[in-house]
Amino acid sequence: MRVLVTGASGQLAQAIRLTWSGHDLFLPEESILDLSQQSAIQSVVSSVRPEVVINCGAFTQVDRCESEADLAQLINGTAVGWLAEACEAQGAMLIQVSTDYVFDGTATRPYREEDPTHPMSVYGRTKLEGERQAARCRRHLIARTSWLYDAWGKNFLNTMLNAAAQGRSLRVVDDQRGAPTTCRALARQLKVAAEEGWQGLVHTTCAGETTWHGFAKAIFEGKGIAADLSPCTTADYPTPARRPAYSVLDGARRRSLGPDLIPHWHEALLEVLKEGTTDARR
Ligand SMILES: NC(=O)c1ccc[n+]([C@@H]2O[C@H](COP(=O)([O-])OP(=O)(O)OC[C@H]3O[C@@H](n4cnc5c(N)ncnc54)[C@H](OP(=O)(O)O)[C@@H]3O)[C@@H](O)[C@H]2O)c1
Repeated sequence: MRVLVTGASGQLAQAIRLTWSGHDLFLPEESILDLSQQSAIQSVVSSVRPEVVINCGAFTQVDRCESEADLAQLINGTAVGWLAEACEAQGAMLIQVSTDYVFDGTATRPYREEDPTHPMSVYGRTKLEGERQAARCRRHLIARTSWLYDAWGKNFLNTMLNAAAQGRSLRVVDDQRGAPTTCRALARQLKVAAEEGWQGLVHTTCAGETTWHGFAKAIFEGKGIAADLSPCTTADYPTPARRPAYSVLDGARRRSLGPDLIPHWHEALLEVLKEGTTDARR
């Protein structure tokens, strides 16, 4: 398949580059496929003529989105509509990557695809708008994921390892529950989803759940690092954007659609740690 990937410098796009063997991948730099420019989207889609477009590009800095709401709306919402129109004109399938932050975190069991959304942040609201826009392409898949990281990129794993390497004491929130998910596991699942033509809305996170503190503890145990780590609450660590206290996503629909390639979060973490990290190699 001819596959066009947006947001080429991001951590998920990098995982797609590494895992989507057997397909013709096009990952234009953001200066060429700038999501804020409708003309750039139209021109790249019509020249590449993809069968699948994976939208990995997004304004992902959750706190910055609060003060730059117009830009967040443009990149995470409006631009997805432009992509959907371009895909529709091309007859391509659009895979839109979305987020657990479309939920408010008040649930007491994992969120299913049909559960009502209620985002609490600009990031969550604009990503939800992106879901609505993506659905304007007849052949679309909206894959919600959470707490993405891998050996490369700016993410929680590399932040923790770098902080510990500098000997810093770490206080990490222990009252937000979710599922850390590796970019490589998500990329492998999206590959099968594209090959098998999955459509609609599907939750694509690692199995199990933990807190950010639990995740940090597992990272340091997995690496054999004696870090100075202690738990704190969300209230101890105020941020501009509100985050859901509970954003575990139910993967039953995904498992009913075909092969489940996303492991338990702890197993996925060990896979990444075993291979080493690129940003914080030690
Ligand atoms: N990270 C998470 O924890 C998480 C959780 C749930 C869902 N998601 C979703 O998963 C997808 C992939 O996220 P990720 O973690 O790979 O994020 P990422 O590493 O921040 O990658 C996003 C990429 O989009 C690029 N981008 C920003 N503005 C753009 C524009 N105008 N045109 C083209 N590209 C632009 C960014 O470039 P710059 O860095 O130069 O701005 C960045 O390379 C996103 O849709 C995100 O919303 C992420």
